[in-house]
Amino acid sequence: APGAQEFIPPRADTIDELRAAAAGCRGCELYRDASQTVFGRGDEHARVVFVGEQPGDVEDQKGLPFVGPAGRLLRRAVDDAGLDPGQIYLTNAVKHFRFERRGTRRVHQTPDRVHITACRPWLVAEFARLHPDVVVVLGATAAKALLGPTFRVTRQRGELLPWPAAAQHPEDFARVPVDRTGAVADAPATRLLATIHPSAVLRADNQDVAYEGLVADLRVAAGALK
Ligand code: URA
Ligand code: SF4
Repeated sequence: APGAQEFIPPRADTIDELRAAAAGCRGCELYRDASQTVFGRGDEHARVVFVGEQPGDVEDQKGLPFVGPAGRLLRRAVDDAGLDPGQIYLTNAVKHFRFERRGTRRVHQTPDRVHITACRPWLVAEFARLHPDVVVVLGATAAKALLGPTFRVTRQRGELLPWPAAAQHPEDFARVPVDRTGAVADAPATRLLATIHPSAVLRADNQDVAYEGLVADLRVAAGALK
């Protein structure tokens, strides 16, 4: 797969211009079976940016991220954490829905590393145009896209972390020089916080406990706003 980089107009100043270009992306094979590219949406001046995994079935049909069941749960958690829902931006690590057909059903499939890597340039391009105080990474796929393959959400969730060098770089992680703390000298003042994906809350044995854990992590993000 060629990756998304060649589809990104170098002089696209705004998120809207990026979104328009992403509609024609063929950076990996996922565009073939999905209905449309689902790009990020929300306030370009958002203090908080959320990064999910990939659009789900409903998102694929509507063309908007986080408008299905996981999105509803996230919206409730945002409210309960005291974040302003009008001042957030929502996006995904992978911009096309990956699924498997089982009869008439389309069943979600987790994106592979090749899809995450192919789609990363869009995420990096979004972050070059956004200036959040905090980026909330929802689940393992988004964590892989921004923190590399060895990061474990379960171990470091709810912690405010420095903005990783790799998050500014469309190339692979191995090519990004990082110091021992994972921070870069010229990194923006943005901080990053990883937590569980809202879909994981919906799948949890004890949904109430999982939900309270998500809200507690989002309160940490709310406390970091400048
Ligand atoms: N799950 C995600 O990760 N992103 C969406 O947009 C919807 C569900
Ligand atoms: Fe392009 Fe990303 Fe869609 Fe692949 S998943 S075709 S890289 S927008």
